[in-house]
Amino acid sequence: MGGPALTPEAQADLVRRAQAVLRANDRGTFTQPAPGQYPHQWNWDSALIALGLAHFDLERALLEIRSLLQGQWRDGMVPHIVYHGGPSGYFPNAEFWQTERSPAAPALPTSGLTQPPILATIVRQLHERHSVPGFVREVLPALLAWHRWLHTTRAADETRLPCLVHPWESGTDDSPRWRRALDRVQPADLPAYLRGDTAHVAGAERPHDHDYDRFVYLIDQFRRRAYGPPAMLAQSPFLVQDVLFSSILHRADEDLSALMRAVAVPAEEVETWLATVREQFSRRFWDETAGLFFDYDVRAGQALRVTTAMTFAPLYGGLCSSRQAHRLIDEHWSNPAEFAPGAALRYAVTTTSHGEAAWEPRRYWRGPVWINYNWLMLEGLRRYGFERQADELRASSLALIARAGFREYYDPRDGAGCGAHDFAWSAALALELLSAPSGG
Ligand code: DGY
Repeated sequence: MGGPALTPEAQADLVRRAQAVLRANDRGTFTQPAPGQYPHQWNWDSALIALGLAHFDLERALLEIRSLLQGQWRDGMVPHIVYHGGPSGYFPNAEFWQTERSPAAPALPTSGLTQPPILATIVRQLHERHSVPGFVREVLPALLAWHRWLHTTRAADETRLPCLVHPWESGTDDSPRWRRALDRVQPADLPAYLRGDTAHVAGAERPHDHDYDRFVYLIDQFRRRAYGPPAMLAQSPFLVQDVLFSSILHRADEDLSALMRAVAVPAEEVETWLATVREQFSRRFWDETAGLFFDYDVRAGQALRVTTAMTFAPLYGGLCSSRQAHRLIDEHWSNPAEFAPGAALRYAVTTTSHGEAAWEPRRYWRGPVWINYNWLMLEGLRRYGFERQADELRASSLALIARAGFREYYDPRDGAGCGAHDFAWSAALALELLSAPSGG
């Protein structure tokens, strides 16, 4: 899949260009995911950016993480956007959130939602590569408070799986897995608003207006309730448990526990979350007939039966049995009617199954290839011993970047770049992929 291996010269050129993107997007204390389109600091972007920065500027990588944690709420939530950098054309702007209504909000302007908690995993990688015990001790309380908030304040039942109240919290905003849950949201009294995202990127590559209205409506509902977590859990019309988010959190809990042990801090609380989620995960998400993990609509009390690449995330989280892993790979990953490259797809992994009616190969999370998701999948495939598939995916990811540059996402049919240009996590993860052994 995806073309010939890169020559050493082409690899060295990619490294130079990736570092140049990270330098150009650097605003001193934080990194913009993409100039113009995303002018502030985003949560999981900044964690992945720190991983890339550490390849050539460790101190700057640690500063990226410190800057993100400045936005942490008093109750533990690490928000999905920290509005470093002052006013911009981004919608929703800092004022739109009205976070000052919440007693838990920090002085710094932030959003009122969270995002996939990959940060502890990145901190562990930095510590194992560069030995930064002082930094680990510094950030541990913040990481622990965030994970505790996810497993308690945001947990609605005995599974301890966090509930998401907004598709933006999933990081995969307009994924078709949310369609049925979003369709139920009726945006009466929608506040007047003007989209900012389509000023920089073609509307055909961004979420549909139907989804955007609901994104904005949900924020309005939460600010009216002053972001009180009990009210959000009890009343949010959108309430889901997410296979991807939960897998990322589980892996991050493993990494948090390892970090705590590394600096001699007791980790029993984290071990309890790990044990509970290991026991509950498949009961909640696995569908034995389909051989797939499906997200769960907590509000409706039923599975969201849509086939997206997020079904493979439990490989990354270490949350499937070997039998489940083989079913995922043999029946779905390798199936050209769903995910495997073939006549219709040249590049993996399409984020929505090619067989889904909602598949749109150039629209945001409806089908394009994302480098962050490929990186997660590489880790997951290797964790379960699927080395050939991992090598192919690494080569295909690098071929895409070499062909189309550091784009936000890519059309799986022809590899065309889509979304924002000079996208920071694509650059950061290119550095990571190029430093990893084997493949193309
Ligand atoms: C956006 O603006 O599209 C982001 O995904 C929201 O976080």
